Amino acid sequence: MRKTALITGASGGIGYEFAYLFARDGYNLVLIARSQDKLNKLKQDLQNQFDIEIINITKDLSLPNSAQEVFDEIQRANINIDVLVNNAGLGDFGEFEKSDIFKIDAMIELNINTLTKLTRLFLPKMLLQKSGKILNVSSLGGFQPGPLMAVYYASKAYVLSFSEAISRELKGTGVSVTALCPGPTKTNFAQSANLGMSGLFVNLQIADAKKVAEFGYKKMEKGKVIAVPGFYNKIATIGVKLLPRKFIRNMVYRIQKERDK
Ligand SMILES: NC(=O)c1ccc[n+]([C@@H]2O[C@H](COP(=O)([O-])OP(=O)(O)OC[C@H]3O[C@@H](n4cnc5c(N)ncnc54)[C@H](OP(=O)(O)O)[C@@H]3O)[C@@H](O)[C@H]2O)c1
Repeated sequence: MRKTALITGASGGIGYEFAYLFARDGYNLVLIARSQDKLNKLKQDLQNQFDIEIINITKDLSLPNSAQEVFDEIQRANINIDVLVNNAGLGDFGEFEKSDIFKIDAMIELNINTLTKLTRLFLPKMLLQKSGKILNVSSLGGFQPGPLMAVYYASKAYVLSFSEAISRELKGTGVSVTALCPGPTKTNFAQSANLGMSGLFVNLQIADAKKVAEFGYKKMEKGKVIAVPGFYNKIATIGVKLLPRKFIRNMVYRIQKERDK
């Protein structure tokens, strides 16, 4: 029996690369994003290369009931999810006081609520089968506060903490949870997060989305709890533990602030 992986945010970036990795290894796929045309193109490309079944679900996962709707649709189609990849995420650069309240809502709903609810909904069946993998995409930003992207960093800290906590609860059950924590990565993320005016993608090394996905995939297969791709990113996570928090938040502010200021 082929296994099935559900990937949120599969229409581009890291999620798109995940889709190729799972397809290569013979997984059937459930691909979710808002862009129907991109999902259809990906489905076509994958099915031209791999003998797998793919179901696309066009869905805005920042809407409150979306996780339940996805779960219900998959139940109706009688599909068993062996791997859940909570990858879809949204960022927003800028001073908090000027931030768009609707974008805050969408960010929290997508990055936190939907990820949590999808995990809660698909986990019981995995536990019954004593087998399953959950890969949650956090961020290097999850290790420290992120002035000028305060809500985004906090949402990724949630993903990291949540993933670590349930990975401990699930020890010995056959279900593993991995939090992938990439640093800046070449995808559409910087544009959709309005990072054009930030120094973040200028001051730090930019990783390749395919390499980040491959790294996360391997760590997920091994059941690792925290996966930080890139040598300098790993060093950064050690620095955060050793240095005073005041120093860290000032440093992140300096890295992130507008380039021309
Ligand atoms: N790139 C980075 O530097 C970086 C660093 C650390 C962590 N991350 C995390 O990596 C994950 C993947 O991001 P990426 O870099 O690959 O960004 P991306 O290229 O912008 O891709 C984001 C994906 O999420 C989907 N998505 C966004 N909003 C959605 C919504 N409301 N409902 C459903 N799907 C939605 C997008 O598809 P549609 O637009 O078609 O819906 C797209 O497929 C995110 O969780 C992000 O926070 C990224």
